[in-house]
Amino acid sequence: MSDTTTDQRAQVPGAAGDQTLTVTDNRTGQTFELPIVDGTVRAMDFRQMKVSEDDFGLMSYDPAFTNTASCRSAITFIDGDRGILEYRGYPIEQLAEQSTYVEVAYLLVHGELPTQQQLDDWTHEITVHTFVHESVKSFMQGFRHDAHPMGMLCGSVGALSTFYPDANDIADPDNRHAQTVRLIAKMPTLAAFAYRHTQGQPYVYPDNDLAYPGNFLSMMYKMTELKYEPDPRLERALDILFILHADHEQNCSTNAVRAVGSSQVDPYSAVAAGVAALYGPLHGGANEAVLRMLTRIGEKANVPSFIEGVKAGNEKLMGFGHRVYKNYDPRAKIIKASAYDVFEVTGVNPLLEIALELEKIALEDDYFVSRKLYPNVDFYSGLIYEALGLPVSMFPVMFAIPRTSGWIAQWLEMVQDKEQKIARPRQIYTGDRTRDYVAMSER
Ligand code: CMC
Repeated sequence: MSDTTTDQRAQVPGAAGDQTLTVTDNRTGQTFELPIVDGTVRAMDFRQMKVSEDDFGLMSYDPAFTNTASCRSAITFIDGDRGILEYRGYPIEQLAEQSTYVEVAYLLVHGELPTQQQLDDWTHEITVHTFVHESVKSFMQGFRHDAHPMGMLCGSVGALSTFYPDANDIADPDNRHAQTVRLIAKMPTLAAFAYRHTQGQPYVYPDNDLAYPGNFLSMMYKMTELKYEPDPRLERALDILFILHADHEQNCSTNAVRAVGSSQVDPYSAVAAGVAALYGPLHGGANEAVLRMLTRIGEKANVPSFIEGVKAGNEKLMGFGHRVYKNYDPRAKIIKASAYDVFEVTGVNPLLEIALELEKIALEDDYFVSRKLYPNVDFYSGLIYEALGLPVSMFPVMFAIPRTSGWIAQWLEMVQDKEQKIARPRQIYTGDRTRDYVAMSER
């Protein structure tokens, strides 16, 4: 046992003033003073806390990283208690009202809003990269007729790395820029091809006369007409949905992109990992669950009994609650307003009445109020997608298209961050040790 006292603290370099944490290791009696920077202590500072010379040192245990910052990031800010979401410091409400998705993608990637010239150049670059190699089309045609579009998207975006082998050169800024543009430009094309495949319809090539959301609608819905003319209200609603889904800091899929990208693989492979993560029902699939729930409730009169079931713990009110937001998800507010614009074109989705009633009752009920359960981004987005005629399997795909700009912005930040290394968490080993192999006849 060491007899180190608080007067003989083991100082970690940088620990000074009141921005420190004093830790006493009761196993040894040793006291350590660790610096607190940005409200954070470094997990590696605990490694010096040992019970013996050959002890590995103290680690932190944080399954699911619920209280561990894995990076420094200047892209997206969230204050979950106050319901604040900002991209590069700009409030999501202002961006949704005044910006476009293409401009937001520029903002996320470059850190600043573009000048008119920069926006024109960026828009042009994205527009002229919307086409995919014909072999990508043949590749996608090889999927089964009933393939899930998210699986097709995951496979085809990963396959793009084989079409751009130079993308491996991630140390070259021009090269990174080329892949950034390609990814943002081609994602809607892959997504629309996947959708048309599930419908057994011919793939529609991009129309470079149209803006980003209008071109996507054209690739999705164009049939025999010579030129598809998107309804401006639908185009705008889609653009807003794209803005709202563009980034959300270190969520599951972004963490996947960063972790896979940290091996210095090309960005197509890293983004494929992001799509794979988003495919899961706990991440990109909640809006589908909302739609199924509303359909099951069936009519407004059934809402009170459904709520009683939720309160009794029989099931969850899907589209409510969030790990980070303990207030109204700011994106849900904007989507709700946008839904009405879409319904003006498509007719009101009959499930809206049930959703509104659920929200009204839940926001007044002590069960939900005391647990700070508010509508999240998925509560209304499924209603819009359904009104656009999309099957539920396309919902996560609609999420992946705009999230690509966030993934790539996070990837760019990560590859240029000198503090980052290959992601490699530790474990607490709980298995057996050093056992002699047992011959088959003796087992
Ligand atoms: N309906 C009913 N009760 C709920 C709900 C809900 N939707 N969400 C949380 N609770 C209760 C939960 O049972 C717990 O109650 P108690 O304290 O009595 O045990 C309390 O609220 C705290 O919940 P939690 O499970 O500790 O919260 P969490 O942060 O682990 O979970 C969540 C967050 C989003 C997984 C959860 O709220 C949930 O499952 N919601 C429904 C699914 C959903 O809408 N998911 C989409 C999230 S937004 C997607 C995105 O941003 O990418």
